[in-house]
Amino acid sequence: MKVFETIADWRKFREALEPGTIGFVPTMGALHAGHASLLKKSASENAWTVASIFVNPTQFNDPKDLENYPRTLEPDLALAESCGVDFVLSPSSREELYPDGYRYRVSENDFSNRLCGAHRPGHFEGMLTVVLKLLNLVAPTRAYFGEKDFQQLALIQGMAKAFFLPIEIIGCPTAREADGLAMSSRNTRLAPGERELAARFPRILSNRELSASQAAEELARSGFEVDYVEDRDGRRFGAVRLGNVRLIDNFGNFGASK
Ligand code: PAF
Repeated sequence: MKVFETIADWRKFREALEPGTIGFVPTMGALHAGHASLLKKSASENAWTVASIFVNPTQFNDPKDLENYPRTLEPDLALAESCGVDFVLSPSSREELYPDGYRYRVSENDFSNRLCGAHRPGHFEGMLTVVLKLLNLVAPTRAYFGEKDFQQLALIQGMAKAFFLPIEIIGCPTAREADGLAMSSRNTRLAPGERELAARFPRILSNRELSASQAAEELARSGFEVDYVEDRDGRRFGAVRLGNVRLIDNFGNFGASK
């Protein structure tokens, strides 16, 4: 497995790479079993698999969240290699990916303002911008994203279509812990008591007996600070906070489209 820390080195290498399908899994590191399933899927479906590891500052609306985001490069590289990754793009500084100082941005002016977008100003703009940069640099055949971040996935699919990117954007099912909590790099920041309580989030959110507002009330009663619970297009979306950790999740088959 080869690791690239500069965009210049990567571009030189990419231009000379022998032809073959390329699968791409962009990440912010702190890799877990959910990432591993995306990486393995890519490795089984493509000649080459590229992963990126970059904690993208422009998508953090909260500077404390950026500061506290787990950074675990060595174990991440070991996990990536064990999943069959061929190349890792791990830009060593913000300037590598933002030589323009973030003057140029990708924005979407409808869905990105809803759900998480309504609570995290600028988040989706930063996310779409870095994903477009990475897709241009890697030029993959397919790119893989988890359905836990369903809104992110939908926005990336929309962007790929809007900008005629010749890339298949593939959504993959959410990986869950044994107690049902969706796997997330942020879970490591939960204190033991919070981690135990966190398992109630997917249980309550997925309860089809409850309306969205009843689920929100039940979550608040259980001790979560609720950002939102909302049904949209037959899917229930939710975001809650435990201490300074924000958890999101979503479930399909929630009745008629709205
Ligand atoms: O889902 C993530 O980890 C990030 O939002 C992504 C897609 C790697 C962009 O920074």
